[in-house]
Amino acid sequence: MTATPPSLTPEDRAKLNALHGRLSALALRNIGYPCNQVFDYSELFRFLQFSLNNVGDPFTGSNYRLNTHEFEREVMEEFARLTRAPEDDWWGYVTGGGTEGNMYGLYVARELHPEGICYFSEDTHYSVAKILRLQHTRSIMIKSTPDGSMDCADLRETLRIHRDVPPIIFANIGSTMKGASDDLAAMRAILDELAITSAYIHADAALSGIILPFVKKPQPWNFADGADSISISGHKLLGCPLPCGVVLARRKNVDRIARSIEYVGVLDTTIAGSRSAITPLMLWYRLKSLGHEGIAQIVQRSLQLADYAITQLQARGIKAWRHTHSITVVFPRPPESMMKKWIIAPKKDIGHIITLPHVTESVIDEFASDFTDALKTQTKAKS
Ligand SMILES: Cc1ncc(COP(=O)(O)O)c(C=O)c1O
Repeated sequence: MTATPPSLTPEDRAKLNALHGRLSALALRNIGYPCNQVFDYSELFRFLQFSLNNVGDPFTGSNYRLNTHEFEREVMEEFARLTRAPEDDWWGYVTGGGTEGNMYGLYVARELHPEGICYFSEDTHYSVAKILRLQHTRSIMIKSTPDGSMDCADLRETLRIHRDVPPIIFANIGSTMKGASDDLAAMRAILDELAITSAYIHADAALSGIILPFVKKPQPWNFADGADSISISGHKLLGCPLPCGVVLARRKNVDRIARSIEYVGVLDTTIAGSRSAITPLMLWYRLKSLGHEGIAQIVQRSLQLADYAITQLQARGIKAWRHTHSITVVFPRPPESMMKKWIIAPKKDIGHIITLPHVTESVIDEFASDFTDALKTQTKAKS
């Protein structure tokens, strides 16, 4: 195959080089967003010469044979094990990210319960309200407790008032800002107590879905604990240069929404039509090359580093904390002057850092020292 020779002007090439320089400097200062920057996919670069496409259901094949469905199936089988999906009663695919996975879960829920009401907490990712608007699903926001998890007393009371309408509960398993997990066991208990037999629970495990399978005594979060679908991001803890994720749902629920499309010879079970064939390959490569041991090491190191960050910040009088099994270290919102140097994700009165592999002890020391200096300058300016 011959490719068109590159024909950039020197100015255009310089622009690309400048971008590369800027990104190289920034990548290691990205401590507020959960995107692991440490990976090497160079062995896969040769696959970029093909116009690949994973259109359709990875389990039923497609007329477009330049695909990586076989690898996608292996990725999904691994995630089915990690999420304790019921054997022979699960289905899933590689998504464009956590948002698409949440959309898929809520879509299945809406098809099962067209009149259902979706309950989600104040701490839920911003995209969920948009998804619910898009699919015209009635919804009620439930209060959060100060630690960021869904207030189960408020959930119980709200469900009690709407007992005649099937609930679709959107559970955060590692919330965006505070890394909080909603209590899946308590949710199931409330449904039992109120004798609500027809309900759906979707678990948004964007970051934590790859942490919890590798810790001792994880909080309830997976299929065995009562989730009906689960969405996990691929580019977060595992790390991937292209945004991606996985979604899994109970097979019997998915079967209700599958449609066969003749033009591409696929079963139309996915949200997107054309889908990346490179991201399933990257996830496969990452899972295979790290193995369970490699992932467990990343998780352990990230948890230890989170504790290191808490110790360093607290030693400087900054109230830092984290949830059990969470690598999101929460603290009061840093002064605006910090935002120029560091990529942090502040919201209202808090900020956080996420201790992924590119974050080292020295990065944390530097951040903590900058934080203290910025607070001192702020205090001086006010007095
Ligand atoms: C809890 C949670 N859910 C969903 C998302 C959206 O995931 P993505 O950015 O992969 O679409 C995020 C992103 O940070 C998140 O933190």
